Amino acid sequence: MKVVYMSLTGQTRRFVAKLEMDSLEIHPDNAFQEIFEPFIIIVPTYDIEVTEIMNDFIETGNNHSFLRGVAGSGNLNFDNLFCYTAKDLAKEYQVPLIHCFEFQGTDEDVKFIKEKVSALG
Ligand SMILES: Cc1cc2nc3c(=O)[nH]c(=O)nc-3n(C[C@H](O)[C@H](O)[C@H](O)COP(=O)(O)O)c2cc1C
Repeated sequence: MKVVYMSLTGQTRRFVAKLEMDSLEIHPDNAFQEIFEPFIIIVPTYDIEVTEIMNDFIETGNNHSFLRGVAGSGNLNFDNLFCYTAKDLAKEYQVPLIHCFEFQGTDEDVKFIKEKVSALG
């Protein structure tokens, strides 16, 4: 399983590094690339204008067919807007919302996602 992610201020990038999994960081200049293996997405939470490069990636080629789930990094101070980018993507592309965590995540968040990912196969 590959982890495809984006990160503006480095929190999600730090979380992904702790997973020690094969990963791919999406930038505006590499969003339209095809992938041919199962992947999950991990996204920070920002306005759609900022995160729509993940939609671009998912909708490129047959990428959507390899998407297995979505997790999100956010900030609980945003209350009911906590982690909405990951929630919206999971709903839009009809895949499981794996987990929501704050900032770069805790050791428990890392363990939880690793367990979920191995359950996904
Ligand atoms: C301008 C701005 C808007 C944000 N809006 C939200 C939000 O609506 N909900 C949320 O859960 N987190 C929100 N966050 C928090 C970030 O998603 C969070 O800090 C995340 O860990 C950043 O990840 P990154 O460093 O990988 O970009 C916002 C942060 C900024 C700077």
